[in-house]
Amino acid sequence: ALRRATNVHWHTEQVTRDIRAGLKGQSSCVIWLTGLSGSGKSTIANALEQRLVQLGRHTMLLDGDNIRHGLNKDLGFTEEDRIENIRRIGEVAKLLAEAGLIVITAFISPYRAEREMVRNLLPAGEFVEVHVSTSLEECERRDVKGLYKKARKGSIPNFTGISAPYEEPLSPGVTVDTSLVSVDKAVAMILESIGLNC
Ligand code: PPS
Repeated sequence: ALRRATNVHWHTEQVTRDIRAGLKGQSSCVIWLTGLSGSGKSTIANALEQRLVQLGRHTMLLDGDNIRHGLNKDLGFTEEDRIENIRRIGEVAKLLAEAGLIVITAFISPYRAEREMVRNLLPAGEFVEVHVSTSLEECERRDVKGLYKKARKGSIPNFTGISAPYEEPLSPGVTVDTSLVSVDKAVAMILESIGLNC
């Protein structure tokens, strides 16, 4: 059963997100990468973070496999668990953005509604949706972790693209297909889309 706290009150903070970000010479945002397993989310996210750090920005990276070893190790891949996975990550991304950071996330995040939920947690314009749009065919051809092969054999249930849905973004800020553009180019496209504000 779900237990909810009562008598909990919200405190208005004196030091705001803008003050925290301002001290770092930036404004915070969340760069949200979404796409199929093996589409290149983690590779782009890591390269993007490296580039931002080179530019002197203060960043934090949240990545699917890693978060599922800690904060979300109690969650699997049913629809319900994926929704909870993204809900928690959205709240963590929000906290990190409030700390003044440029947050990069790399999760399949297959449901449109959950991505919109995260967008709505943040001030307008702070959520940048990046669709890593590498096709299922290409992801399956690469099959870096051998998961597609297992999923086709039926040994991984609810596998995104095979036996679980992926809902493509309708109007992403950026779309990158890693079979068409290099990682460097993808990073440049994302940086351009966020301008020097971020
Ligand atoms: S989700 O849908 O956003 O909750 O998924 P995410 O937290 O990003 O985790 C995706 C990684 O988990 C591995 N994995 C699976 N992916 C999809 N479907 C199923 N059933 C599954 N089981 C395990 C897989 O390695 C994903 O990593 P990436 O980096 O996306 O390839």
